[in-house]
Amino acid sequence: RLVSTVEDPSTKKAFDTEMQSFFYLFTRYLSERAKNVDIDWDRIKSPGGDQIVPYDSLSQPRNDGSFNKLAVLKVNGGLGTSMGMTGAKSALEVKDDMTFLDLTVRQIEHLNMTNGVNVPLILMTSFNTHEDTLRIIKKYANQQVQITTFNQSRYPRIYKETLLPCPKRADDDKKHWYPPGHGDLYNAIYQSGVLDQLIAEGKEYLFVSNSDNLGAVVDEKILQHMIDSQSEFLMEVTDKTKADIKGGTLIDYEGSVRLLEIAQVPSEHVEDFKSIRKFKIFNTNNLWINLRALKRVMENEGMELEIIVNPKTTDDGHPVIQLETAAGAAIKHFKNGHGVNVPRSRFLPVKSCSDLLLIKSDIYSLRHGQLILNESRMFETIPVIKLGDHFKKIQQFQKRFKKIPKIIELDHLTVTGDVYFGRNVTLRGTVIVVANEGQRIDIPDGCILENRLLSGNLNM
Ligand code: UTP
Repeated sequence: RLVSTVEDPSTKKAFDTEMQSFFYLFTRYLSERAKNVDIDWDRIKSPGGDQIVPYDSLSQPRNDGSFNKLAVLKVNGGLGTSMGMTGAKSALEVKDDMTFLDLTVRQIEHLNMTNGVNVPLILMTSFNTHEDTLRIIKKYANQQVQITTFNQSRYPRIYKETLLPCPKRADDDKKHWYPPGHGDLYNAIYQSGVLDQLIAEGKEYLFVSNSDNLGAVVDEKILQHMIDSQSEFLMEVTDKTKADIKGGTLIDYEGSVRLLEIAQVPSEHVEDFKSIRKFKIFNTNNLWINLRALKRVMENEGMELEIIVNPKTTDDGHPVIQLETAAGAAIKHFKNGHGVNVPRSRFLPVKSCSDLLLIKSDIYSLRHGQLILNESRMFETIPVIKLGDHFKKIQQFQKRFKKIPKIIELDHLTVTGDVYFGRNVTLRGTVIVVANEGQRIDIPDGCILENRLLSGNLNM
């Protein structure tokens, strides 16, 4: 019925194809729900030694021109709603007035220039991020990097109780639709013709990562390992800490390697899933994919991925669901797919304003778009930063820091309540600032706080 609301014949076909894909996903959801198929917990094992290869064991690259066969793709369809963003998160200025996208372009430009190659940058956008993205990349039209964009799908949200779609017409308001997760990448790259275009240009490997992961730079050792091991799919995983309880993990499921997301875990095993004893690593979403193998999967078996049901509530309070998929789940479709356990530095995402503070601070500097840990930091560890709810939204964060404090000697910062930071503030050791309900704390310009606990209604 939604398809019949499209009048323009030039867009009708594409919309029809999109709705067919949605309908296929929806039908699978209904049938799985009816059968009540949960993953069988007893059959899950920790992955074996050959299913996760340590990064340190990879051999040195041979510099044999393999970059010529590489393309880089950033999944860039998300909004960063947890940071209160309404535009593309990748358009946020993160460091030295540069956005995530600017930094990515710098990294690839540098790669191309130093190696005399032409690694293209592909951006997957969504209806939420397409315009922001085009605006940013316009300025790179004449640079050393070829940028291609394609749009991911737009699926209708579904009312939880009736299972009917929220939009009534194809052109109904944005709020009734959603981009169905980064697992949509495979469908979208195939349908858009970008997959064929890359293969025609002689590209064989695709390095995929989240647009907000500043640690996801091209790594020649991993590319070399992909070629040498003839693996069609590599997932970069990294050691889990107690703070990484939500990320998907790799498991051995009856001899084959699979991604397990928290949404698939039966509620009685969620604590088990979160523990770092049984599941020692998590998925960074840095993925290396053989393009011809991808085309084979798309054309033969099809890219069926585990459905993640994402519950949301509409502005007027109705519970709805979004059916989504994760890109890493594709590992099961590929030959010799396995994990590479990489250093934590390859996973530097900005998921919250606490992460943003760290990235913006003097803990990191930039070299060719890449974040480098400041050498004057005495310890290998990075500070633990916990900004409270008053700093949750990006607008609040920007208002509350006149300038980002110097934190090179900081170990731990906790800020709770209505707190404002002045210019040129220095934080050292462990600093805790707590403004109680109804009170406000202003940290004045030039203030140095070292191992201090500030609380109450303080005007320093
Ligand atoms: P997340 O959903 O984990 O992160 O997406 P986010 O963008 O910070 O979103 P919020 O705060 O949960 O709303 C991880 C990566 O996947 C991309 C995002 O742009 C991000 O780079 N993504 C996510 C897509 O490309 N498409 C989607 O449908 C969802």
